[in-house]
Amino acid sequence: MRKNLFFTVMLLPVIVMQSYAQSGKADKALLVKADAALQFAARQYKLMMTHVPDSLLPRTTNTKDGSLMTSNSGWWTSGFYPGTNWYLFEYTKDPAFKAEALKRMALVQKEQFNTHTHDLGFMMYCPFGNAWRITKDPAYKAILLTSAKSLSTRFNPTVGCIKSWDHGTWKFPVIIDNMMNLELLNWASRETGDKQFEQIARTHANTTMKHHFRPDYSSYHVVDYDPANGAVLSRKTHQGAADSSAWSRGQAWGLYGYTVMYRDTKDKAYLEQARHIAEYILNNPTMPADLVPYWDYNAPGIPGALRDVSAAAVAASALLELSRYTNKTEGKRYWHAAETMLTSLCSPAYLAKEGENNDFILMHSVGSLPHHSEVDVPLTYADYYFVEALLRYKQWAK
Ligand code: GLY
Repeated sequence: MRKNLFFTVMLLPVIVMQSYAQSGKADKALLVKADAALQFAARQYKLMMTHVPDSLLPRTTNTKDGSLMTSNSGWWTSGFYPGTNWYLFEYTKDPAFKAEALKRMALVQKEQFNTHTHDLGFMMYCPFGNAWRITKDPAYKAILLTSAKSLSTRFNPTVGCIKSWDHGTWKFPVIIDNMMNLELLNWASRETGDKQFEQIARTHANTTMKHHFRPDYSSYHVVDYDPANGAVLSRKTHQGAADSSAWSRGQAWGLYGYTVMYRDTKDKAYLEQARHIAEYILNNPTMPADLVPYWDYNAPGIPGALRDVSAAAVAASALLELSRYTNKTEGKRYWHAAETMLTSLCSPAYLAKEGENNDFILMHSVGSLPHHSEVDVPLTYADYYFVEALLRYKQWAK
């Protein structure tokens, strides 16, 4: 009897609530485009394999001479290329992608011990998290757990955050991008039963919610804290147009990060935060009709300003997931927005031509415009989140 009451009062509403968001309606034309884009991506990355030197990772195009720019494993984007190869392996079942992922992961593996960066979520979870998910090889689990421990060393309980950077004149800088590294910590808690990792992730997410956001739910890029007492010292930008502006990729990182925090914890506060960020993005008056944002929502020169395709790819993947957690009306809206983004990214305006674009999949991303770095170029993370979003679309569209 008590059990029945518990089912009716506690569980039934949860089941009912989950049953009315879940999956989006398939746009048949987009499903065809998604397959074509994934097949194209596989062909491009097959070429990429032959062009990237064995000891390096692809990064972008060198804007000075148009050549392929690579990085070593210490650069924050090192994990995306092997991560994308895992996605392409999943899609094609072609062992060449798995072999390429393993070859490049061997380069990145040593970063599990790196305690000088907050980017270990990107660097390690994208390749090794996918490797673990697909193969369940315990070697990857061990590497991920070491990575989670290394990332945790950057947490300061007085501030309630993981420190982002060791460089610059900041005291304890935290950037909105850091929300993307929390998934690794949540995973580590699930795998080990040690709640400390998730506690760090939750505390970081809560502190960020408190100090990084403006009343309209746009976010600052960098918040600098006093490590001695946790006070906010300043709110600045690094890659955005101004301290007071909304740097587009930062908004996408926040959207994705809070969506993941809700997935992993089921804490409604994170869902609310993700919904608010989504509304900021989708209601933004500068958002173009194709939903590929300008590099900053307050960029000077709009509508002549550059777009940032990476921000659209990250947001599309996040919106597909968020649409599954909200009510039907809102879910539909997020799903359709993601469809518009993906339709745009699958078009010749953003999708490269075969054998061009240094074998990257997408064109027209912006790394850091204020630093004149990676401006209007392909970027490995635009490719990664695009391929992820296409696979999500194929999996979730009904
Ligand atoms: N996390 C650095 C960037 O988004 O450019």
